Amino acid sequence: MEKSKTEFTHIPVLLDEVLDFLITTPNGVYVDATFGLGGHTKAFSSRLSKDATLIGIDQDNSVLQANSTLKLPQIFFPVHNNFRNIKSILSKLSINGIDAILMDLGLNSFSLDDPNRGFAFDKSGPLDMRFNQENPISAFNIINEYSEHELSFIFRKYSDAKYHRKIANAIVTARLNEPVSTTDALKLIIASVVPSFQVVKSYAKVFQAIRIEVNDEVGALEQVLVNIIDVLNPGGRIGVISYHSLEDRIVKHFFRDLSKDIPMQPGMLPEESFIPKIKIITRKPVSPTAHEVANNSRARSAKFRVAEKLG
Ligand SMILES: C[S@@+](CC[C@H](N)C(=O)[O-])C[C@H]1O[C@@H](n2cnc3c(N)ncnc32)[C@H](O)[C@@H]1O
Repeated sequence: MEKSKTEFTHIPVLLDEVLDFLITTPNGVYVDATFGLGGHTKAFSSRLSKDATLIGIDQDNSVLQANSTLKLPQIFFPVHNNFRNIKSILSKLSINGIDAILMDLGLNSFSLDDPNRGFAFDKSGPLDMRFNQENPISAFNIINEYSEHELSFIFRKYSDAKYHRKIANAIVTARLNEPVSTTDALKLIIASVVPSFQVVKSYAKVFQAIRIEVNDEVGALEQVLVNIIDVLNPGGRIGVISYHSLEDRIVKHFFRDLSKDIPMQPGMLPEESFIPKIKIITRKPVSPTAHEVANNSRARSAKFRVAEKLG
């Protein structure tokens, strides 16, 4: 049976680690850029003074609506937007600098559990997968309009799906008869070309790849990382929790590139030198303890990286 919003229990991932690493001043400005079910925002609130400001961003309006009665002792701004627009979001709120930003990537368990959103391969529903329901492109468009080459490319790039070519070919063949419009129809197509012991894994990979493409998750992450540097106060921190290697790699490389110290030396071109903009706080990503994973299976693959803006 479907859970109602009030029945839904949600355990935020790496909660203590997030608070310990990201709170540097109790009355600062904090952005939870992936508000979701508000788990991290509420925890931030409990550790901050009443003079702090909290901003909760989510592009999925359903979770913001579900939390519309949320009252916090601090000034709290719920924002329906994509975090990639962090600069314009803050400028509309007349906020010039922030002390920390958290991104807990991926989708919230409430939307995952809703069969009408089409995120979960173990639920019958329409091929949708949009985080933001105002987005004109859904999983239906991708499955029915992308070329065989494009489908194969995203299955390989975004989830390393082993049978990406065969699955892409089966999709374009099947849609000659009628559009592929449900999660069940897509599963039947995948199952028809993948060995039975690989079927469930292939469902997971293909669904993940489509979701990443529908929501341009990679583009949004790359854009927000670049934009955040301009809005963080000196000493302010950025924390990212990722759940697959593609995202973790993007964060790792971004942090590494921006923390490089390449002083100007005789014979060097000015553009070859680099003044570091951030300091990496977590040399290795922080992972959940075995105890956390036992209590919350969603935490299983979480990796948390933190960096601090230099003054
Ligand atoms: C893993 S959930 C966050 C859960 C949250 N930390 C909590 O404890 O309740 C990720 C949320 O981020 C949102 N999201 C993902 N990408 C986003 C983006 N580019 N901009 C804004 N929100 C995004 C999703 O809609 C989802 O609600």
